[in-house]
Amino acid sequence: MTKDITYWQYLELENLLKLQGGITGNESDVSEDELHFIIVHQVFELWFKLAIRELRLARDILGQPKVEEDIIPFVVHHIKRVNTILQLASHHFELMETLTPQDFLNFRGKLGTASGFQSFQLREMEFILGLDQKQRDAQGHPNPARYITATAGTEGFGAEIRERITNAQQETTLRDALHEWLYRTPIHGSGPLDDGDDEVISSFIQDYLDQMAKVNQHQIDMLVAAGGNEEQIKKQFDVTVTNASDFLNATDVDGDPKLRRTRVAILFIESYRKLPLLAFPRLLLDTIVEMEEYMTEFRFQHARMVERIIGRRVGTGGSAGVDYLDQTTKYRTFPELWAVRTLLLPPSDVPPLKNAEFYSFSTKT
Ligand code: HEM
Repeated sequence: MTKDITYWQYLELENLLKLQGGITGNESDVSEDELHFIIVHQVFELWFKLAIRELRLARDILGQPKVEEDIIPFVVHHIKRVNTILQLASHHFELMETLTPQDFLNFRGKLGTASGFQSFQLREMEFILGLDQKQRDAQGHPNPARYITATAGTEGFGAEIRERITNAQQETTLRDALHEWLYRTPIHGSGPLDDGDDEVISSFIQDYLDQMAKVNQHQIDMLVAAGGNEEQIKKQFDVTVTNASDFLNATDVDGDPKLRRTRVAILFIESYRKLPLLAFPRLLLDTIVEMEEYMTEFRFQHARMVERIIGRRVGTGGSAGVDYLDQTTKYRTFPELWAVRTLLLPPSDVPPLKNAEFYSFSTKT
């Protein structure tokens, strides 16, 4: 039997609308500006909650030992939702900016040391995505997991937060799942477990570098003909091939011996993206790049909003404020996907494909 349910019951509005009472829990102690501040933050946290679910879903599918090609659009669909959330979240800071610096100073003291730096959901997102802590260490940034754990305490919701943060750090990341899936990509029809696969990978890399050098030579000739210094120009272009070689031939970077094949797979997918079997994978890679782009925009817009409202003062969480936030825009969870873009050749110059028939859709009966 279906019980009649109302709009407000379904959305639990009775509870939801009672959650804006600030530190006393009494809404009459909260000004319009503070109510605005609380609601804007709460909306962000709800979006983070949804994004976390979507990312776990995408990660779980990609992390399977076998991923059917026709499930990829489903993964793309769910990551696209995260992208739209992040895009809207960046614009949502415009609403926050209707708070003037002095309006904020009226109640900033109430926050004490509470800070967005304690947003454990944003950290869960970063962990599930696979943002490498080394990127924070390299810039001398505090470890947010440690900070949250230290401030959460061991009782009640604090204990739950600690557990969530610990679990999120131990989960397979979207980056790991993606790399594992990329690693299995057939290159010229050869899989990682096939005899002679290593030679196939090496010869793909060599052919690609040769083509890069050829395309470079054409540009060098044009620049020299236009009056450029041949030696200098050649040196500049040679570096691009050396860098590409170092990137593609990387073996066992950070304890990941599979990285060479994974990087080659990204280049292969991007280079032969018109093949039926590679079209969806390429779309997936592009959607992940888009996600990282929106994440970076989110960080950038937050920093601009903060600069507009509190200038360059120290944050309530004790960080250097805007300077710290601006540095976080340098973080990249998927550096390989970005790096490959520097290497791409015009479609007419990519090395000829071997075993093209391998990349047609499989027919299921
Ligand atoms: C008046 C509005 C706001 C101000 C002045 C502000 C200020 C700051 C500052 C200074 C930091 C650096 C950490 C610290 O020292 O406290 C920070 C971090 C952060 N804030 Fe805000 N913020 C505001 C609104 C928001 C909103 C609406 C959100 C949405 C969720 C947000 C989310 C975050 C997050 C997630 C961090 C951590 C960033 C990181 O470490 O990567 N903030 N905020």
